[in-house]
This record gives sequence, structure tokens and C-alpha cells, in this order.
Amino acid sequence: MDNQFKKAEASNKKLWNELAPVHFKSYDVDGFRTGKTALDKIQLQDLGDVNGKTFLHLQCHFGHDTLSWEREGAIVTGIDFSDKSIELAEQLRDELKMKTRFICCNVYDLKEHLNEQFDIVYTSQGVLCWLKDIDAWGKLVFHFLKPGGRFYIMESHPTSHIFDDEQLGMNVKYSYFHRAEPTVWDDEWPDYSDENYITKNPSFEWQWSLGDIVNALINAGLKVEFLNEYDKLFYKGFPEMIKDNDGWWVLPEYRDKIPLTFTLMCKK
Ligand SMILES: C[S@@+](CC[C@H](N)C(=O)[O-])C[C@H]1O[C@@H](n2cnc3c(N)ncnc32)[C@H](O)[C@@H]1O
Repeated sequence: MDNQFKKAEASNKKLWNELAPVHFKSYDVDGFRTGKTALDKIQLQDLGDVNGKTFLHLQCHFGHDTLSWEREGAIVTGIDFSDKSIELAEQLRDELKMKTRFICCNVYDLKEHLNEQFDIVYTSQGVLCWLKDIDAWGKLVFHFLKPGGRFYIMESHPTSHIFDDEQLGMNVKYSYFHRAEPTVWDDEWPDYSDENYITKNPSFEWQWSLGDIVNALINAGLKVEFLNEYDKLFYKGFPEMIKDNDGWWVLPEYRDKIPLTFTLMCKK
């Protein structure tokens, strides 16, 4: 299995190196340059005042959210295994004369690159499906937090992954539960943030149930402070989705019926 996981990660890294420049164009980087944050109100409210806090962002992509947390006053380190993402993140940081430190490494190798603890460990929006071992991830989160520090995640709700995302009607197509072998997506499918871009590299993804995620953090030694669920998504996950006034994607027919996003806060 180890070898298979290595191949899966190597392929995912290729995919993210392919997507980094695509997202650099399709995300609102120009808005960010002129002062607009990449962060939504829920995350800003949940994390509250981060001014002066040391802040570790896992799987930071090209740094859009990461640099937004620096703008909120945090002292930020962002890590990602896509060298193209980190290159673009450093370019944007330097262009805007910001300070965030970026590290290029696999999240599972982070201890070899970083020997510090943080007030806040953060990760968000499209991160857990790339992780081969949720328990090892929970232990890493614990390891990098100072005593009393907080872990926060906003992520797509695992329930949202069970529906057919190609057809109208929210039909159950995939399993809610984890299996060790990753699912391979190798079809001609447009990228979630640029519907004119068809991805070339396959992706290898793992499903983690809400129980898997929460238990990984509890078993690592963290205390859950809250777990909130929302009927809206941060990307267009289904054909019938429309954007609400705050920029969230919603299912008009299924409002208040299906959990699509969750947030979770834990304390060490
Ligand atoms: C959807 S993006 C991150 C979401 C971020 N909120 C955004 O949209 O800008 C997922 C990121 O996870 C990174 N990633 C995937 N697997 C990883 C791993 N094993 N170690 C480190 N980074 C990884 C990818 O390179 C990619 O930048």
C-alpha cells in the first residue's frame, strides 16, 4: 500500500503544479492586490482576533488565504507540497511586500522542515481528500500546536461527497465511508474554479467521514470546542447550484436539508 500511496501523492503533486497557475488567474488575485480578503465572514468570526498570533497554514496552495491571514495581523507560515504553488505564493508575497514564510513540503514530512509550535494551526477548503492517513494528520496538528493553541478547519462536508455531481437531482452515488485505496478521477472534467480549463493530470482522493476527522483530532489529544454544519459550499460542487448574495454556492431545492460545509475548532 505504501508504494501505491507514494504514486498517488506524486500524481496529486503533478496535478497541483498544473493547477496552481490556472488558479492564480481564476481566483481573485487582483482583488487581493487591492485589499480584498480571500476569507469569508464565517472563518473571520470563528477565529476572531489573530493579531500577533503565530499561525501555521497547512496545504496553503498559492497563499491567497495565507496572505489574507497576515493582513489580519497573524505571523504566518504556509506549507504546501506543490512547488509551483509555493513559487507563486512567494512571488505574490514579494510583490506586495508581505512577510509570510512559505515552506514547500509534503504535510507528512513537515517535522523535517519545521521545529516550532504555533498559537493557531489552520487548514481549509479542499484539503482532506488529498490525505492518505487522517490519524497521522491529527497527530501532526497536535504536534505543531502550543499548549492552549487552537486548530481550525473549514472543509466540504463529507456528506456532500456522496452525491452524483454530474447529474441534476442529488442522487447518492458514492460511499460516505473511508476505504484505504484512493479513488482515481481521470475523466475530462473542468476545474472547479475555471470551467473552461480541463485538467490533464488524474487525481487520487480519499474520503474521510466526519467521525474519522473528529476522532483523529480527539485521539491525538485535542479537545473539540465546536463543530458547525452549513447548507452551502465554497465552490460550485453540483450543476444546480447558484450563488447567494454572500458568494456561497447553494442548492435552491435543498436549502436547510443537506450539510455541505463544516467548521471545526479544537484546543490543545
Ligand atoms: C484546494 S487546495 C487548498 C485550498 C485553499 N483553500 C485554496 O483554495 O487556495 C489543496 C492544496 O493541498 C495541497 N496538497 C495536497 N496534498 C498535499 C500533501 N500531501 N502535502 C502538502 N500539500 C498538499 C495541494 O498542493 C493544494 O495546493
